[in-house]
Amino acid sequence: MRPVQSTMPVSRFLTLLAFCFLVAATSRFSCAAGPSVSFTADIAPLLQRRCVVCHGLEKAKGQYRLDTFGGLLKRGSSDKPSVVPGKPEASLLYQLLLEKSPEDRMPQDADALSSTEIALVKSWILSGAKFDGSSHSTPLARFLPTPPHPSAPKRYKHPWPITAIVFSNDGTQLVTSGYHEINFWNANTGALLRRVGGMPERIHSLAWQPAGTLLAVGGGSPGRSGELFLLNLALQSVPRAIAITADEILCASFSPDGQRLAIGSADKSVRVFTIPQGREILRLDQHSDWVHGVVFSPDGTWLASASRDRTARVYNSTNGNSISTFRGHNAAVESVLFKTDGKVVLTAGADRTVRTWDGIDGEHAGTFAKFDTSITRLHLADGTMLMGLADGQIVHRNLPDGKEGAVTNIIEGRVAALAFHQATGQIAAGMHDGRVRVWGIRGGVCGNEFIASPGLAKSPRP
Ligand code: HEC
Repeated sequence: MRPVQSTMPVSRFLTLLAFCFLVAATSRFSCAAGPSVSFTADIAPLLQRRCVVCHGLEKAKGQYRLDTFGGLLKRGSSDKPSVVPGKPEASLLYQLLLEKSPEDRMPQDADALSSTEIALVKSWILSGAKFDGSSHSTPLARFLPTPPHPSAPKRYKHPWPITAIVFSNDGTQLVTSGYHEINFWNANTGALLRRVGGMPERIHSLAWQPAGTLLAVGGGSPGRSGELFLLNLALQSVPRAIAITADEILCASFSPDGQRLAIGSADKSVRVFTIPQGREILRLDQHSDWVHGVVFSPDGTWLASASRDRTARVYNSTNGNSISTFRGHNAAVESVLFKTDGKVVLTAGADRTVRTWDGIDGEHAGTFAKFDTSITRLHLADGTMLMGLADGQIVHRNLPDGKEGAVTNIIEGRVAALAFHQATGQIAAGMHDGRVRVWGIRGGVCGNEFIASPGLAKSPRP
């Protein structure tokens, strides 16, 4: 469970309180009319935490949604105005906070809001129910304060596991997961180029927007929270999470046109966001355990997910309708891919097999490959299938027949992350012990290896 967050930082609350006393004591204006209650800082996080579960995309109890400011202004099934600027007594949203019976009071069947929180809603409405954000359609979740993160160590004392790795669009740089940061390295020399902090403890997924400039970063702290960032590195803005989930975000994948981003979380959900707005447009809760992999089909029509619950699923990526469920793995499914035809799905996992199946009817088509150890990562590369294994092997095999190919590389340890760059033919493997190895799939490029932990990069192998 995620610890309950306070609605606002204590310091901000005290300032507001002090302001109220000051205004009440020194002027004819009442505190409630004070301009200091901010929708984005004070009201949105409160509604997001206490109300959106029943009044959002999935459920809209009373035909009422308040997951955006625009939605909040609309009337629900009662057809009474929910918020009337300046008039809390005429605002249903406020009146329902005061109801005596728990069935009628909001939040329904839960603890009432505290008197401070209720007073805050009242003074916000009294002072004109103003919106201080940029767009009425921004999800309220965007206004949740990002949990503060400690800074990354200046020099790492021990190698940090590489759980996510990706090439820059031009193939010259590698981005890797660090501790509360992501790091940029020269792909050829392993020289550290840049560090971007303010990130959650663990990073599980890094993905570049196709033909775009945004880098999606998914991660979190185990059992506590998941965070999704969209970084525009040219702007160098302070990273701010665009979505917060109840547990770590384990995977993220863009649609081929770069307009949508799908994520899978340890909170068992699969979600889809619009890019660059970050509005949640789909939430799928069919999995009963962590979601390890998500991917769009090559034409963007379908979305597939892989889960620790031993199943993989295909959905219509627009309306979220379930298309098929594959139950052919008898252990956690770690990775999922569409073949280029967009119909055949490949999944792999802890049962040591890579299986192919029909994305439309979920029928098992065959075992593509079988190993002595679990398969941690799948990647399509140059018409071959690249597979990273828990014993450090990286194997590639021909598609579609799965004919034996050479063992590409053996690195001791567990392959925890895998990346391929099409134009240059480079492969990069991120290892659980902190090493990164880069080499060329078409031969010729000799291997380069480094420890992707700042301060340890040049050290000898542990
Ligand atoms: C556990 C679910 C649940 C939670 C949480 C919840 N609501 Fe509701 N809400 C309902 C239900 C159910 C109705 C419909 C009640 C009815 O029609 O009798 C409703 C109706 C409403 C309506 C009236 C819509 C209309 O026009 O009919 C408003 C306004 C509202 N809720 C606001 C809130 C606010 C504000 C919060 C958070 C402080 C909140 N709700 C939290 C379940 C919930």
